[in-house]
Amino acid sequence: MRLGVNIDHVATVRQARRTFEPSPVFAALIAQQAGADQITLHLREDRRHIQDRDLELIKELITIPVNLEMAPTEEMREIALKVKPDRITLVPERREEITTEGGLDVLSLKDSLREYIKPFKEEGIEVSLFIDPQESQVKASKEVGADAVELHTGTYANLWNEHRFEEAQRELERLRKSAQLGKELRLRVYAGHGLTYHNVKEILKLSDLIEELNIGHSIVANAVIFGFERAVREMLALIKER
Ligand code: PXP
Repeated sequence: MRLGVNIDHVATVRQARRTFEPSPVFAALIAQQAGADQITLHLREDRRHIQDRDLELIKELITIPVNLEMAPTEEMREIALKVKPDRITLVPERREEITTEGGLDVLSLKDSLREYIKPFKEEGIEVSLFIDPQESQVKASKEVGADAVELHTGTYANLWNEHRFEEAQRELERLRKSAQLGKELRLRVYAGHGLTYHNVKEILKLSDLIEELNIGHSIVANAVIFGFERAVREMLALIKER
């Protein structure tokens, strides 16, 4: 399975102070150096983490594929067609949500999505739709002309984190069935959201069906914790030098 590293929450920390550090561009370069297969980032309408300039710099400097998550709005289409990421992933977006809460309802947006994605296909930009693991949504994704689907693993992850393992297994089965159908329909199948160093293990059992995982929050969380000791020691060294 490939790993797309989502660097949004590096920018979340920076935006907490509206300053220059930590830089998601720097994080993207380090992720690339560490062997990541892709950089994933979400330019939200409210610009709460990633900024337009981050996207431009990442596209310019990164040599592995760049996957831009975005809401299917006119503003985002214009930006994406200018920056030309390797892939766009269409996600639903609500200002009041903490994170992307559900998949895109492709079934009810069929006509508008079919039109929306046309210019991306003409530009050779891969189009992926972030959907809940429901077979009707997978079928609708094929019908609108998507190249790929990213299956929302958030429900599975939450159940697993709450130790509701039987329900998590049932959700895993839904993910498996949706992934299977996606493959049969010749869609590329990816997955992501809420995955951690613990709950990812069960998802790996679907590696014959799912090509790629996009993981962000847990990687950034671990980077903060594992890098904390070094950061404190370096500040102490500076202060105690005098
Ligand atoms: N995939 C999609 C489509 C997302 O919207 C997100 C969150 O931005 C992720 C993957 C990564 O989720 P997390 O940060 O929980 O790992």
